[in-house]
Amino acid sequence: MRTFFATSLLIAGLAGGVFGHAPVNGGEVRRRKSLGFGPELPHAKFHANPYQIQTNGFMPMGSASDPFVVATAFLDDLLSGQTGLNSRYKIRKDSYTDVNTGVTHVYVRQMVNGLEVADGDINLNIKDGMVLSYGNSFYAGPTDDLASSLIGDVRHPHREHCETLLAELQLRVAERYSSGEQLPMSSPASVDEDELAHLVESNCAFVDLPYDLASKGFASQEAVDDPRAALLQFMVAATPNQDVVQDVLSNFDAHFEKMSVSVVHHFDDPESAPPFEISNVPDTVNPVKARLAYVQVPNKAGDSTELNLVWKFEVEMSDNWYEAAVSAAAPHRIVSVVDWASDAPIPKPKPGAPATYNVFAWGTNDPSEGKRSIETENVDALASPWGWHALPVANDPSMKGVRPSSPNAIRNTTSTWGNNVFAHENWEGQNSWINNYRPEGHKGNVFDFPYDPQATNKTAALGEAKKFIDIAVTQLFYTSNLVHDLYYRYGFDEVAGNFQQHNFGRGGAENDAVIANAQDGSGFNNANFMTPPDGQNGRCRMYLWNTANPYRDGDLEAGIVIHELSHGLSTRLTGGPANSGCLGWGESGGMGEGWGDFLATTIRSTKNYSDYSMGSWAANREQGIRNFIYSLNETVNPSTYKTLDKPGYWGVHAIGEVWAEILWVVSNGLIDVHGFSDSLFPPAPLEDGTIPEGDFYRPVEYTSAGKKKPLIPKHGNTLSVQLVLNGMKLQPCRPSFFEARDAIIQADQILTGGENFCTLWTGFSKRGLGPDSRVDGRTPWGGGIRTDDYDLPSKCKTA
Ligand SMILES: *[C@@H]1O[C@H](CO)[C@@H](O)[C@H](O)[C@H]1NC(C)=O
Ligand SMILES: *[C@@H]1O[C@H](CO)[C@@H](O)[C@H](O)[C@H]1NC(C)=O
Ligand SMILES: *[C@@H]1O[C@H](CO)[C@@H](O)[C@H](O)[C@H]1NC(C)=O
Ligand SMILES: *[C@@H]1O[C@H](CO)[C@@H](O)[C@H](O)[C@H]1NC(C)=O
Repeated sequence: MRTFFATSLLIAGLAGGVFGHAPVNGGEVRRRKSLGFGPELPHAKFHANPYQIQTNGFMPMGSASDPFVVATAFLDDLLSGQTGLNSRYKIRKDSYTDVNTGVTHVYVRQMVNGLEVADGDINLNIKDGMVLSYGNSFYAGPTDDLASSLIGDVRHPHREHCETLLAELQLRVAERYSSGEQLPMSSPASVDEDELAHLVESNCAFVDLPYDLASKGFASQEAVDDPRAALLQFMVAATPNQDVVQDVLSNFDAHFEKMSVSVVHHFDDPESAPPFEISNVPDTVNPVKARLAYVQVPNKAGDSTELNLVWKFEVEMSDNWYEAAVSAAAPHRIVSVVDWASDAPIPKPKPGAPATYNVFAWGTNDPSEGKRSIETENVDALASPWGWHALPVANDPSMKGVRPSSPNAIRNTTSTWGNNVFAHENWEGQNSWINNYRPEGHKGNVFDFPYDPQATNKTAALGEAKKFIDIAVTQLFYTSNLVHDLYYRYGFDEVAGNFQQHNFGRGGAENDAVIANAQDGSGFNNANFMTPPDGQNGRCRMYLWNTANPYRDGDLEAGIVIHELSHGLSTRLTGGPANSGCLGWGESGGMGEGWGDFLATTIRSTKNYSDYSMGSWAANREQGIRNFIYSLNETVNPSTYKTLDKPGYWGVHAIGEVWAEILWVVSNGLIDVHGFSDSLFPPAPLEDGTIPEGDFYRPVEYTSAGKKKPLIPKHGNTLSVQLVLNGMKLQPCRPSFFEARDAIIQADQILTGGENFCTLWTGFSKRGLGPDSRVDGRTPWGGGIRTDDYDLPSKCKTA
């Protein structure tokens, strides 16, 4: 079992070659370390077909039934079938009803022995007394003997994940040697290899740490109710800082003693918030939140799961925000870890001479052109009732300690500071943000700044880019607010977990506007977004790109900003607002990237069809930063479901690219049928709150009982956005491609009665995701062999 240790030598050997090669365009590139892995639960399943949902005794209830009563009846019936299950559940408070579709999304967490099963999730989609669909990953084994979960003599997800990754990497390296290429030290590795090596380096360097420390007598004796040793070991694996690693390893006991654990009593909701906070944790920027919980680990046969007692940590670091599960008993192994931060990828190394690129040709997606026209604050009365520059004093982080003149006092701001977004410079690349520089609109809020960056010598390039911080922050603020308003109108509202300081009494958790850093100094040629659960600020960091002279500013490329903000959308909508752990790795992590590309591409697309790339202006590369541009043409973009089998499709960005391409094909199928709307924005509501149809929605229809049916966008592009967002709400935590596809098809069933059933299947089938597509031999750590299916369900076949 200790064979893995030898592989760290390989990692060390690779590090010189793979990471040492010249970064893109010779500039400084810092690649963010990020851990992300965990088991795929073999029994987790989304039951999408309403006609198949029959449990022992549950019968659909009257259409006026309280959805939570329906949920309870359904759950009691569903779970009564599980033998020997000494488990209970709780219905999470972030459950909500979608105001448009009328579907109530109920999120359920499994409880065993008074502790949460952190990955034991049921999501129920309920309407009119019926359970329309549900996902279920509840642990279904015995709970009377949980001794093994204390000893920890079960599978080791971290090790198995790394063994799989490493086998892939070795294959890549061997292929390169045998193809006669030069040694890694002197030759740039391929992109695939680079991505894999980065995954291995980020995730696998400390796989054997718990055993090593235990054998040295460190931290092997402490009780399972002390989180400190488990946390310190996680920090060694998580920190990107080698000095911190050395310091902790040489002074383990001193660090252990210095860390202090305090019990936090939550008056409001004692069950839902972590009960412990740990201070003085190396390399963190806030106290770590901790709670004991169970997580599931696949058994040896890989067909069911066993419970493991873990510490669940929320660890906020300057470049990462982790949710980690570490076994509570020594040796403390990392069972799963999700980084709430998501990167845009670094562009691939460019062969040969750099492509030249006309930024103006890109038109609407290039904001430096938009700056020449004066745009007005787009106050959507529904999404941002007070506009973008007003918030209650009580919810204003810069007014802490200031006593509002009245409890409801509202503050109008004249900078890029508002209820949805706080945008500012962050040249230092640190975590402080409240007092960072912001452009001033003065009286009248006029944000009008010149933009004429000049080519300079290399030394002066950064200073030149910084001169235009006012336009960068203004653009970031403007784009981010529009994205807030757009997504709001498609259902990313307060109860669904959107990002706002103040929620206007419309539900959901408050005080979580997006903190948007322009020209963030912590990196180049990238961008990222951290999504903690509802009620904590999201954090978006945009970087400069040193891919051209003058430097290009990611803040000015709408597609990159939209991609990042969409991480917040998909993370909060999948599995419920309070669960940020549903898109952590594998296919679900990949789709987290794919939705952002799809939405960014859909937002910039016009009536006349065109192919699009991602990030090509910032990256100064015509093809953009993905393997292929998004295209309906299978020669231009050949991605299908089976593409995921290929070498190089281990990283979330490559997986996401396949998902985005599939959605692009599906969406264009809907456009062929329903036409194209020039604006994605629905009309503003009237004074009485009703929303006019305009040319946007189909005429309102009523049920036989006289109830208004959901509003249906008329056109193919608007309908696509609606179905994709509704699908995110329906799908289970940690969805697969199949489950996300089925959720979109069900979203159409709920919204239109299924009129697009065959159009949707036709789109999915074109890229291999037909009804008989499948994956065989998937291990709990990913992988497997996929089979494309280009066929259609029988009812869609024309005779
Ligand atoms: C904020 O602006 C609104 C709209 O112009 C105005 O009605 C209100 O009085 C202002 N509030 C304060 C505190 O200045
Ligand atoms: C680069 O340009 C700046 C500003 O024009 C100038 O002050 C500086 O001397 C130049 N440095 C080099 C190395 O040429
Ligand atoms: C679309 O193409 C038509 C015909 O070539 C052209 O007249 C029109 O201006 C184009 N519209 C846009 C938005 O590009
Ligand atoms: C698809 O793209 C290829 C390569 O650019 C091109 O040769 C072919 O004509 C395109 N097919 C269609 C149907 O446009």
